[in-house]
Amino acid sequence: MPRLLKLPGLIDIHTHLRVPGGEQKEDFATGTRAAIAGGFTTILAMPNTTPPVVTPATLAATRRQAQPAIFCDVGFFVGASPAHTAELPALAAAGVALKIYLNDTFGPLRVDDLPTLHACFRNWTRAKPIAMHAEGQSVAVGIGLAAAYRRPVHFCHISRRDEIELIADAKAAGLPVTCEVTPHHLFLTDDDAARLGTFGDMRPRLASQSDVDALWAHLNTTIDCIATDHAPHTRAEKASETPPPGVPGLETSLPLMFTAVKAGRLSLARLIALMADNPRRIFGLPAQPDTFIEVDTDTSFTVSEKGLQTKCGWSPFLERELVGRVHRVVLRGAEIFVNGTFVAPPGCGRVIG
Ligand code: DOR
Ligand code: ZN
Ligand code: ZN
Repeated sequence: MPRLLKLPGLIDIHTHLRVPGGEQKEDFATGTRAAIAGGFTTILAMPNTTPPVVTPATLAATRRQAQPAIFCDVGFFVGASPAHTAELPALAAAGVALKIYLNDTFGPLRVDDLPTLHACFRNWTRAKPIAMHAEGQSVAVGIGLAAAYRRPVHFCHISRRDEIELIADAKAAGLPVTCEVTPHHLFLTDDDAARLGTFGDMRPRLASQSDVDALWAHLNTTIDCIATDHAPHTRAEKASETPPPGVPGLETSLPLMFTAVKAGRLSLARLIALMADNPRRIFGLPAQPDTFIEVDTDTSFTVSEKGLQTKCGWSPFLERELVGRVHRVVLRGAEIFVNGTFVAPPGCGRVIG
């Protein structure tokens, strides 16, 4: 029997579950199975679905549809949209946080005008965070809004040296900003993007070795969270004439980070802060009593398509040798997953927020 390490249930604050409208890529059952297999007992779902989650009716319908299908706890982001800012107070009751897309990425959600940004900051409750997809100088826009409104702003998937250095400066100036980085931006570079083709394309794109080095240099200080940005698309979509950006990550993130712990690149305590404690604190998520995961700390394995729960069935990390596979998951005292098998019914997770 390999040595098993007991850790708290992990939290992924950035998952694309694709319901409604993208069920060929992922659905509530397959996405939350992938989460549990990756060690996550709480995930936050992104709003860039079809239709996007920008109205109380869509949010309510999505929550209702999720409950009977999910294997882990799921909270739902609300999307910022110029046409729906008046509905933000009503959306705040059941959404966990507001997501503002400042730059182009998958789906139609975008905010590129100041009146809408003002409306978002005025209408979204101060009790729940605002998260931003901001690249390059858009990060400065978000920092400016955090300063002007004196309220927390969380930056998603920071990937560039100049971005992380600007956030470090903003934190040093006492501004209420936080940020996440993804494992793909920590473990892949633009060289891998050339090798992987569209299967290594996402937003933000993979960056230079210098950018990757900067992220690692800020892992114990400026960076608050690791988030997967699990963004599944089918193989056929990725191989098409118009490949959508995004890569899956729920099932590889903990093994990648755990392998880095074994290599001495970060401490186990820091991994727990980045993947459980800080996400819970920043997003005000409920504690999960009697909830833990057991991780195999000895046996190395090769990432392969066969072992994956995600419906998309591929990974940008195929063929990597990693350590840190999840052996068992217990949620609120109930065994959910043991040695590759799900032993609890769908619906054992809860919709939160
Ligand atoms: O690569 C990405 N894919 N970046 C995003 O911001 C969105 C995501 C998706 O939804 O596919
Ligand atoms: Zn994004
Ligand atoms: Zn995303």
